[in-house]
Amino acid sequence: MRILVSGTSGLVGSALVRRLEGEGHEAVRLVRHEPQPGAGEIFWNPKGESIDRAELEGLDAVVHLAGENIATGKWTQAKKDLIRDSRVRGTRLIARALGRLNRPPSVWVSASAIGFYGNRGADILTERSAVGRGYLAETCQEWEAATEQARHKGIRVVLLRIGLVLTPQGGALAKLVPPFRLGLGGPLGSGRQYMSWITLEDLVGVMLHAIKTGSIQGPLNAVSPQPVMNKEFSRVLGRVLFRPALLPAPAFMLRLLLGEFADEILLASTRVKPARLEETAYRFQHPDLEEALRHLLTK
Ligand SMILES: NC(=O)c1ccc[n+]([C@@H]2O[C@H](COP(=O)([O-])OP(=O)(O)OC[C@H]3O[C@@H](n4cnc5c(N)ncnc54)[C@H](OP(=O)(O)O)[C@@H]3O)[C@@H](O)[C@H]2O)c1
Repeated sequence: MRILVSGTSGLVGSALVRRLEGEGHEAVRLVRHEPQPGAGEIFWNPKGESIDRAELEGLDAVVHLAGENIATGKWTQAKKDLIRDSRVRGTRLIARALGRLNRPPSVWVSASAIGFYGNRGADILTERSAVGRGYLAETCQEWEAATEQARHKGIRVVLLRIGLVLTPQGGALAKLVPPFRLGLGGPLGSGRQYMSWITLEDLVGVMLHAIKTGSIQGPLNAVSPQPVMNKEFSRVLGRVLFRPALLPAPAFMLRLLLGEFADEILLASTRVKPARLEETAYRFQHPDLEEALRHLLTK
């Protein structure tokens, strides 16, 4: 297959491209810099709302991952606007371009996040659950809605509601591990908030599954079948690293240090079930947290 991928310099995009190329597919990168000749790159400028549309003819699939990183820098109003606008505008730009093609791809997998569901305590959330409240939930809702024009064109659009991605190469785990290794790890806030996680290997597997499974369209939760409370996650991480995990990080301190990011991401409880993945018989490589962390951190 010839598959267009955006956000290829990122954590998820770079892993997806490696896997696609390893399996003999052609990964075409949607890039924000001058395309290198012969490098399989297509230019877009999501801020300036331009894209080389003619180059998009005849693709088999599109995977759209690009967006301003949410975990770097403080969540000022300007940063929050950038997080939302980079996703909503970029997605709308791609939707419009795909909607005008003569030979559109049959499937578009577009990233979203479990932030869609908001802070929901111990409720079990599936793709049928309603949108939550707050900045992230609203952003995810707008981000997903921005794909509309492609759906009208008849393209099968998959809205990938991604959970916390686990990999030692970056993201949350790379930030959590150093304090744990120093014996300074522990639960965040009360530790009772649910964390819905997925390994990077499984996330890439899920994207390929979504591309290949014609019956999947609309929301698709990309999380493992074993969401856990944060205190359990901390306990397991401590055990895997042979360190105590007893030092809690109080909620007020996290808020003081990280502002709204603390409430929206670290302290929010989102217990998500991969209902559509189970219905379509996706086989997780790492369904169990302890096994996943051992695989990621001790091999
Ligand atoms: N990692 C997670 O735990 C997680 C969880 C839930 C959802 N997600 C979502 O999954 C997607 C991929 O995640 P990731 O962890 O790979 O993110 P990432 O490492 O931050 O990469 C995102 C990529 O988007 C592009 N980008 C950065 N700033 C941009 C901007 N202002 N406008 C347009 N494009 C920009 C960059 O790629 P180029 O330089 O190649 O353009 C960047 O490498 C994101 O949309 C993220 O919100 C991730």
